[in-house]
Amino acid sequence: MITLGIETSCDETSVAVLRGRREVLSNEIFTQQDLHSPYGGVVPEIASRSHLEKLPIVMRDALQKAGMGWGDIDRIAATYGPGLASSLMIGFSAAKGLAVRQDLPLVAVNHLHGHIFSAFLSEDAPEVEETCPFLALVVSGGHTCLVHVERPGEYHVLGQTVDDAAGEAFDKGAHLLGLGYPGGPVLDRVGRTGNPAAVSFPKIRVKKPRGSVAAGQEALMFSYSGLKTALLYHLQQNPGIADDEQRLADVVASYQEAIVDSLVSRCAQAMESYSTLALGGGVSLNSRLRAKLAEAASQGGWQLLMTEPRFCADNAAMIAGVAGLGLGVQGDGALALDVVPSLPIDSV
Ligand code: KG4
Ligand code: ZN
Repeated sequence: MITLGIETSCDETSVAVLRGRREVLSNEIFTQQDLHSPYGGVVPEIASRSHLEKLPIVMRDALQKAGMGWGDIDRIAATYGPGLASSLMIGFSAAKGLAVRQDLPLVAVNHLHGHIFSAFLSEDAPEVEETCPFLALVVSGGHTCLVHVERPGEYHVLGQTVDDAAGEAFDKGAHLLGLGYPGGPVLDRVGRTGNPAAVSFPKIRVKKPRGSVAAGQEALMFSYSGLKTALLYHLQQNPGIADDEQRLADVVASYQEAIVDSLVSRCAQAMESYSTLALGGGVSLNSRLRAKLAEAASQGGWQLLMTEPRFCADNAAMIAGVAGLGLGVQGDGALALDVVPSLPIDSV
């Protein structure tokens, strides 16, 4: 079964060709970072215009790299939410039109399910069904959630953020430090030479459950707005940090440590009831997070499935992968759908 995947939920235009469940024949990604960085964040109008311009080119390249023509494709899988409405619309409308034109089945995919299962795209990953139930940590620019995956298609949110996502905490922190956008990669790099214990930022705690999270699970909730304010105060009280390489590296390493520690401590706690943790989303590229989680996994005796770096940030291979597992909205139901910008992670 050959799946053509399309992903345009935010600021990456991506098309992939997947054979079966995990043989990624191509995974072309055009990232719009350079277009948005002067504005310090994603500008929806610029994003949708760029998707419209680049999607045909990215699609042509993905088919060419895979050595395939339309006659070889068996189905089209595309993201219909969550994400920016105007961005989602470009990829999902194109997928609908192509499905009708090429007489192919359409699968509408929840972007977050792409991140949940992205670790299973690796050649040496176990089968999803054999791994269930497992815990997934999805950490990106828009989401921070701990999800119980009972089986493919049944998800329960155990913890999520009450304000900013972990990726936003990186992006906003980098903005305050004058280090540009997106913040994750630059803080990861600058923090490597710093002392993570140099500044003690407050521990992240949430006192009340929110959203679909049950009472008693506050301990697994996340919150990053207070951390960002603590960084702002620290910079106001300690002028000149940006001009001193070592002090800057120390602050960055400490700020990053507070985010990483909040993620790792909750995972370690939740993993008392699981044997496998799957890690996905753009923030899972973070080297400190990967190292600390690996350490926690070996101490706790659980299996850690880390998504390969090429499938961490938004990409279409993970969207095709969800269809490869037999998941997503299929048939006429998919053609009748509209994009859903706030599609929840536990919708099936
Ligand atoms: O998954 P993704 O590409 O898009 C969303 O679905 O949001 O994640 C983007 C986020 C950004 O906030 C970016 O700063 C963060 O992932 N990110 C990182 C790293 N690389 C990207 N955060 C921490 N460390 C990194 N190395
Ligand atoms: Zn994403």
